[in-house]
Amino acid sequence: MKILFAASEAFPFCKTGGLADVLGSLPVALAAKGEQVSVVLPLYGQIPAQWRQSMTNRGSAYVDLGWRHQYCGLFSLVYEGVTWYFLDNEQYFHRPSLYGAFDDGERFAFFSKAVVAMLPAMDGLPDVIHCNDWQTALVPVYLKDAAARWEAARAIKTVFTIHNIEYQGRFGRDTLGDIFALGDGWWDDGTMDMDGGVNLMKGAMLVADAVTTVSPTYATQLHDPYYAHGLHPIVDMIGPKLTGILNGIDLKTFDPATDEAIAANYSARRMAGKAECKLALQAALGLREDKDTPIIAMVTRLAGHKGVDLVCWAFDEIMATGAQMVVLGTGEDYYEDFFRAQASRFVGRAAACITYNEGLSHRIYAGSDLYLMPSRSEPCGLSQMIAMRYGTVPIVRKTGGLADSVKSCQVGQADGTGFLFDTYDTGDMLTVIRQATGLYYGNRAGFNAVRKHGMAADFSWKNSAAAYRTLYQSL
Ligand code: GLC
Repeated sequence: MKILFAASEAFPFCKTGGLADVLGSLPVALAAKGEQVSVVLPLYGQIPAQWRQSMTNRGSAYVDLGWRHQYCGLFSLVYEGVTWYFLDNEQYFHRPSLYGAFDDGERFAFFSKAVVAMLPAMDGLPDVIHCNDWQTALVPVYLKDAAARWEAARAIKTVFTIHNIEYQGRFGRDTLGDIFALGDGWWDDGTMDMDGGVNLMKGAMLVADAVTTVSPTYATQLHDPYYAHGLHPIVDMIGPKLTGILNGIDLKTFDPATDEAIAANYSARRMAGKAECKLALQAALGLREDKDTPIIAMVTRLAGHKGVDLVCWAFDEIMATGAQMVVLGTGEDYYEDFFRAQASRFVGRAAACITYNEGLSHRIYAGSDLYLMPSRSEPCGLSQMIAMRYGTVPIVRKTGGLADSVKSCQVGQADGTGFLFDTYDTGDMLTVIRQATGLYYGNRAGFNAVRKHGMAADFSWKNSAAAYRTLYQSL
């Protein structure tokens, strides 16, 4: 099968979050299974020169989006068995950051329209186009529009994956024609309208041949208004067209036995290096160097749905367990300021790295003992899996993909990999943090056994890539 992924970010080219990790590893896993896989991305100014130098110029065309007539260049390179396409338009994609501009709707509508327009210039038409999140939600819609006049396009199937339903691509009614260049029919038949405005994610959910999300539990939760951010009637409407497939992680990138970013390598059988990683992390972040003080880490976007409020509300109680705390990430100003302030209150015990740094994130996964992820909602979550792979025991709220990837060790399960709590509540979270630090202080052998179960768990793409393949075939 020929599969083309369309997305707004993919590691190692451009990354702001987990979406990039999935797009950097799922296509590679499918290619390894013998599928013909390509990925199309915007050619952002942020993509390093090292990659640009190995790109081939495949030509250009003009893409019409309503009254706009815009240049689009097509570049490609081959990496890890996958063809990576890049769509060039400097006006749209040379910006200070990937997202957050006033014209994001127009930028990603252009991208989605250009994906369809540039198909003939790629290596053969795909059997399936797999779109991801609101930025590429218009691809199935534009493809359907194009197919009215283009017979070959009618055979292409589309899959739309929801990585996070909170970001839907909502715009005013007037954008339908003016920005998205869609006829009123798309509104009148109820495809694009939601609560009086245009909703791109809704459109994709209705138009795509299959809809997936990134864990089975989140797929179930999306029927619940609490999790669906207004789209639950659409989730109910599409019924079995929506399925949940748990993400994997790239086991080569995240391997403590070979990771070059960390102070010392280790594996489940030879754990000595992990203690070295811990001391190196404490030294690097100005924490008191002590191998017997547990380090609780968070590597996260500082956003509400990640449960950061619980951590803010309970910060003093967390510190009262005697643990050290490390936070890496950027996000809302309030949270950034909060963690900076705690680092100056708890000198030598709390560190706030308000930045994003891939190498440092690896050193934190490797050097910590516990990994805190109290998400209010979590479609899948990758960092709890990465943490487990590095022998860092997760403490998570039992929601979405966290519930599907962490096995409780609290109820005496022999192969438990972490600690879970149910309710979005500081009291529940603290109880479990105390259980975890209690196990660390009181029964180190028991704690180390939990570490090892996590390190032995299978978070590869093997099963999930097979599930996607079965889905594509079924279409
Ligand atoms: C989004 C979700 C996260 C998921 C990731 C990759 O970032 O919030 O839970 O792991 O996408 O699918």
